[in-house]
Amino acid sequence: FSAFLTDSFGRRHSYLRISLTERCNLRCQYCMPEEGVPLTPKADLLTTEEILTLARLFVKEGVDKIRLTGGEPLIRPDVVDIVAQLRRLEGLRTIGITTNGINLARLLPQLQKAGLSAINISLDTLVPAKFEFIVRRKGFHKVMEGIHKAIELGYSPVKVNCVVMRGLNEDELLDFVALTEGLPLDVRFIEYMPFDGNRWNFKKMVSYKEMLDTLRQQWPELEKLPEEESSTAKAFKIPGFRGQVSFITSMSEHFCGTCNRLRITADGNLKVCLFGNSEVSLRDHLRGGASEEELLRVIGAAVGRKKRQHAELFLMRQDSPPALPSTFRNSLCV
Ligand code: GTP
Ligand code: 5AD
Ligand code: SF4
Repeated sequence: FSAFLTDSFGRRHSYLRISLTERCNLRCQYCMPEEGVPLTPKADLLTTEEILTLARLFVKEGVDKIRLTGGEPLIRPDVVDIVAQLRRLEGLRTIGITTNGINLARLLPQLQKAGLSAINISLDTLVPAKFEFIVRRKGFHKVMEGIHKAIELGYSPVKVNCVVMRGLNEDELLDFVALTEGLPLDVRFIEYMPFDGNRWNFKKMVSYKEMLDTLRQQWPELEKLPEEESSTAKAFKIPGFRGQVSFITSMSEHFCGTCNRLRITADGNLKVCLFGNSEVSLRDHLRGGASEEELLRVIGAAVGRKKRQHAELFLMRQDSPPALPSTFRNSLCV
């Protein structure tokens, strides 16, 4: 495995997340203000060719999984073409996408044909009116249609990301669990994380322990599944159910120790940690004519500086967390 992608704690980074756009067709309260986020001028965003050049380089060095993210990746007009071109990279085993599902039913047949292998869909409520309140847009039925289309086309499991917020959707946990009885879903309950301007506070976060208690009361037979390597989710299953439920415990139990992810932002910065504040512009090096060797040295230096764990997250675990660093500029969908 490439030394450039191995950090000083021995973590091998074989999973690359590429943000295709900062834009989104929803305005989830926990992510963006009503007016949206400031957008980078188009000329500063990575072109499709630049994305593919970088992807090729990372795959050559050992990345075997790429996830396309956003904003909302499915609003990039050439997303199908990007998947098709990634598909040709030898050594790349998984091409995933994390989407809000609005455009999914429409695009999935083409995406599947192009080679998309894994789908994660955000959905925080099963109540249409509440959906509109949380995401400040319409579209509940489109998302459900997207989920069913993914199942119909054979994706298994289809992952559903549900950010749990006290007073908002914590009363729906069991309804989400019920979905897994007949459908091959992995419903993933995510601890609500602080993000620049999302009015996060400690009391709104429902912890993994609390969620697990709620599930256990109804389903004492809930069974823990073996941990998958480098997974951010702890998985459980109710015997006899087709699907499973998981928890993403970013707040209460971090998973920095087994982190294998790197990120490229839509404007071409390499981020070695979701919460990290050091980014390096791969775009500028590319446009400056850097050779592959030079790019790898830049990447290797950034990976080499990756911290053991993210300190700020711990500060956040208090009742009145300090203001967030301004470097939390990307949505957590990145
Ligand atoms: P898989 O590749 O299917 O395991 O998906 P994933 O969970 O890595 O990605 P997804 O885009 O579905 O994100 C789900 C949740 O995990 C989101 O709330 C993310 O913010 C969180 N998450 C993803 N990557 C990281 C990370 O590197 N650190 C932390 N703390 N949380 C992450
Ligand atoms: N806390 C937890 N999860 C979040 N996501 C976006 N913002 C937050 C937040 N503040 C989730 C989205 C999406 C995933 C990639 O990140 O719901 O499913
Ligand atoms: Fe869009 Fe995801 Fe942010 Fe919602 S959480 S506004 S779907 S980027």
